[in-house]
Amino acid sequence: MLDKKELDKFNQGHLVEFEKLMSSNEKAQLNDKVKSLDLEQIQNLYQSLYVNKKVIEDVSSVQEVKYERKADFSQQMLESYEQQGIQAIKNGKFAVVLMAGGQGTRLGYKGPKGSFEIENVSLFELQAKQLLDLQAKTGTTVDWYIMTSNINDRETRLFFEDKSYFGYDSDHVHFFIQDNVVALSEEGKLVLDVNGKILETPNGNGGIFKSLEKAGYLADMSAAGIEYIFLNNIDNVLVKVLDPAFAGYVDAHGKDVSTKSIQPKKGESVGRLVNVDHKDTVYEYSELSEDTANEINNANIGIHAFKLSFIKNVVDRDLPYHLAVKNLKQLDEDFGVIEQPTLKFELFYFDIFKYANSFITLQVDRDEEFSPLKNKEGKDSVETATQDLKRMNIIK
Ligand code: UD1
Repeated sequence: MLDKKELDKFNQGHLVEFEKLMSSNEKAQLNDKVKSLDLEQIQNLYQSLYVNKKVIEDVSSVQEVKYERKADFSQQMLESYEQQGIQAIKNGKFAVVLMAGGQGTRLGYKGPKGSFEIENVSLFELQAKQLLDLQAKTGTTVDWYIMTSNINDRETRLFFEDKSYFGYDSDHVHFFIQDNVVALSEEGKLVLDVNGKILETPNGNGGIFKSLEKAGYLADMSAAGIEYIFLNNIDNVLVKVLDPAFAGYVDAHGKDVSTKSIQPKKGESVGRLVNVDHKDTVYEYSELSEDTANEINNANIGIHAFKLSFIKNVVDRDLPYHLAVKNLKQLDEDFGVIEQPTLKFELFYFDIFKYANSFITLQVDRDEEFSPLKNKEGKDSVETATQDLKRMNIIK
């Protein structure tokens, strides 16, 4: 039985009413779950992120990050980076990690976003093909780590099996699941999902490092002599997955964090790479004033390489949660299904940058490397992604 007095201390007394409507099995589940939660910490999160909504920090001190433009490199330099990259890949220095735990909500697509097909080619296949090409070029099968979430893990694995891993060696494809975190009502209360369990949602892409660690993959990478983790998003249809020129650039400079960026358009709602207090970081577009955002020359396109030794050193450190309000299905007090604004807590992977000591950014050409599939129609949509894939001769 839940202890109402104890729960009331943390604004969760209402759970007792839910409990009354439950079968003994459901009650036992609810009790176990509630026991496993740190209710004090949850209330602190609610207070700090919602009630006392952090007015955006003072961002007057944001500076441009140090960056180089690929367009300024001579042909000779590019070739030399490419050679170094190929050698580094051959020497087994790189692993590739893909963030694919998010939901394609804005796309209006139910399955894993990576299984979304454009002219019969899925986003997963677009990336797998590049690793196959790299294998042909280097003779090395790079290990591919794919982060899923409990929402899409099963479907993602089945999709890969169904497609025979697109011809990639399945021993080199490793799935791992990110963690969940509870969601709250706007009153700070835990809510029940449509199955009568405490509602939880994936904890944001910043869960990636701890989840890699938990799965034992950081240790595997170390044992295999990996030096760098290449990281990318699922939804950029023009992403170059571990292109040798960037791999060489990363290896030549050996920084904790290497980043690819593009020149943002005015008002474009992509994160901006900024330097604050001598550390590079990303501020989401919504966190900056329009004027400041428009002054920054580097947009985050979710392509990075991290030194493995850096990640291993800081993987246990905490990252801050960010708040998103989303319409989520849940049960009302009579156990009817409703959908209402709900507080979702998310970690962002780039918050780990603050623990790094060295950074480097390479600005690349948007037309060649960035076309995100975010929406059903209009900007960054199926239509624009299809056009860009055809323009680049990736699909016919
Ligand atoms: C992200 C970046 C933003 C950048 C933009 C470029 C973050 C927090 N913001 O924004 O700075 O300008 O991409 O397209 O990364 N994901 C998970 N698990 C989650 C949530 C997301 O794996 O719980 C994955 C997604 O599948 C995707 C990536 O993380 O591959 C980016 O997430 P998304 O929610 O699409 O971020 P954006 O808002 O588009």
